[in-house]
Amino acid sequence: MKISELQTYKEQGEKITCLTAYDSSFAQVFDECGIDIILIGDSLGNVIKGGENTLCVGMSDMVYHTQAVAQGVKKALLIADMPHQSYTNAEQTLANAQRLINAGAQMVKLEGGRKLEASFKILYENNIPVCGHLGLQPQSVIEMGGYKVQGRDNDSAQRILDDAKALENWGVKTLVIECIPATLGKKISKQLTIPTIGIGAGVDCDGQVLVSYDMLGITQNTPKFVKNFLTNGNIQSATNDFIQAIKNSTFPADVHSY
Ligand code: KIV
Repeated sequence: MKISELQTYKEQGEKITCLTAYDSSFAQVFDECGIDIILIGDSLGNVIKGGENTLCVGMSDMVYHTQAVAQGVKKALLIADMPHQSYTNAEQTLANAQRLINAGAQMVKLEGGRKLEASFKILYENNIPVCGHLGLQPQSVIEMGGYKVQGRDNDSAQRILDDAKALENWGVKTLVIECIPATLGKKISKQLTIPTIGIGAGVDCDGQVLVSYDMLGITQNTPKFVKNFLTNGNIQSATNDFIQAIKNSTFPADVHSY
């Protein structure tokens, strides 16, 4: 999967599929099933380290897990999360992004909008492909007052849309949008030329992502946007069902949307 293919998928209306992975064995299964993108998510703070949130994840965790995932993958595009406090200024952003690229990632993901202008710009100038992340930003869970749906009122919806357009102008290649009303997910996806990847952002995003442990029903007390695909069969069949459900737009359904 090349980064340019993501753009082609959007233009041709083919949905993009994405799952998180943190080790080479899971990554290999997802890759062989034909997932388009594997995200080494800082959700590893929750599902691997057992933390309450993603704030316990550092660069050494991300480098370690990115190297492990990269060993298992032949086809999928690899995106690695930049963890909390790893992109507080331009120089630090560039140095840490380079560590993740050296570990095997093809793109890095940052949470936040226009306040990160210097970080987005330095990555663009240094040819490091970037994925944005707007809407609910788990690294800001304390500032956001919990895991809440974002963009419900007109002003906050407009702020998210304006952030999304700024990120596109700064060369971001794709954008994760998390936990926003489906109508806003649709509006952002229509107004951007880059592909959006939704998680709790409705069926009209250009692609969908889930934390793999949620998709496999391992996690307890999951949010509304999660569906357990491992109700019958094995991890391979659950992954195939997840991919098919995204490709034919049967996931997410209304029950998984806000
Ligand atoms: O860390 C992660 O798993 C993520 C997804 C929820 C998009 O950022």
